[in-house]
Amino acid sequence: MMMLQHNADLTPFNTFGLSARAAALCTLEDENRLPEIFRQPEYRQDTVLWLGGGSNVLFCADYIGLVVRMATKGISHQFIDEQNVRVEAQAGEIWHDFVQYTVSQGFSGLENLSLIPGTVGAAPVQNIGAYGVEVGSRIEAVRCFDLVSKKEVVFSHGDCCFAYRDSLFKQAGKGRYVILSVRFVLSRQFVPRLGYGDLKTVAETLSQGKLLTAAAVAEAVCQIRRTKLPDPRLLGNAGSFFKNPITNATTAAALAARYPNLPQYPQANGQVKLAAGWLIDYCGLKGFQIGGAAVHEKQALVLVNKNHATAADVVALSRHIQDAVQQKFGVFLETEPIWLPEKSTAACLERQ
Ligand code: EPU
Repeated sequence: MMMLQHNADLTPFNTFGLSARAAALCTLEDENRLPEIFRQPEYRQDTVLWLGGGSNVLFCADYIGLVVRMATKGISHQFIDEQNVRVEAQAGEIWHDFVQYTVSQGFSGLENLSLIPGTVGAAPVQNIGAYGVEVGSRIEAVRCFDLVSKKEVVFSHGDCCFAYRDSLFKQAGKGRYVILSVRFVLSRQFVPRLGYGDLKTVAETLSQGKLLTAAAVAEAVCQIRRTKLPDPRLLGNAGSFFKNPITNATTAAALAARYPNLPQYPQANGQVKLAAGWLIDYCGLKGFQIGGAAVHEKQALVLVNKNHATAADVVALSRHIQDAVQQKFGVFLETEPIWLPEKSTAACLERQ
């Protein structure tokens, strides 16, 4: 029988470290035991939460349903041809460990995504991205369990509708599919992607004149991340708290005229992505604190749990930042992590 814990503490299972409890909690280590979960009296399709590393969720209140921690493990690969290799990883694999494994095998494609917290199964949901690479670009297929038809289903890259921090699993497929494993196509030769920020300089310095490798790029990404982004084990956080806003070209040009230093990233469709961290920083909000929640000193896009922050602190801080940026730049910042449980989120936000 599957071990189920009632009234379980969720604090260790969300990287922001918000204190909340789950009506019931269990860990899935073997996907063949999924049917056992469906037989639990606590299971309901509309309230079950499939949790990865908890690095992109904010618990606003206690969770009234069953929480299932995905902990299935396993990685396999198969060479496609001289250039490419197909790698499949189970949902519960730790993302960074998986990236390191691919790099150690000499496979290239995921090295820019080193040190991102979370699990393999969570990666496609918000299409994690960093240093010029989005994971969706390397995903061939996502194998899921469909909670409605109670059958396995495989989504191709196209089916997944990957977009900036977005996918099918956050939109039409939300709450319906349990991601079981993810299939990637990686390159057997190193294909450098060094266009973002100071990545090229850091990677070259690390290589000390030797031929650049995927391992050196991975190490450079780790170094850069460590200087800006807090380690959730030491300082609770959920990564970037807001999405970088995307505006039309006219608005972007007007902002560029007023704020020539504002970093802007033109998109393929003519729209322009703005650096939200810069906007927040320009409002003078680095280090700004409400209750136990604060804007990170080294990267204004990250909110941190300084001192036993409550959900109310986080909501108040998030609102304050949104208002400041809206007033100064006329730009709305959308929050990036998922607020849970959804039904109490509205009530929680209402109380502020
Ligand atoms: N900036 C400031 N002040 C700040 C923060 C940023 O001036 O306090 C400026 C930087 O100098 C830079 C620009 O804003 O010119 C962008 O900053 P950065 O390179 O740190 O990246 P970001 O746009 O803030 C995004 C992702 C990160 C990802 C980095 C690197 C989003 C929401 N965030 O952040 O992803 O690691 O690029 O690629 O797209 C995450 O999603 O959780 C995450 C950490």
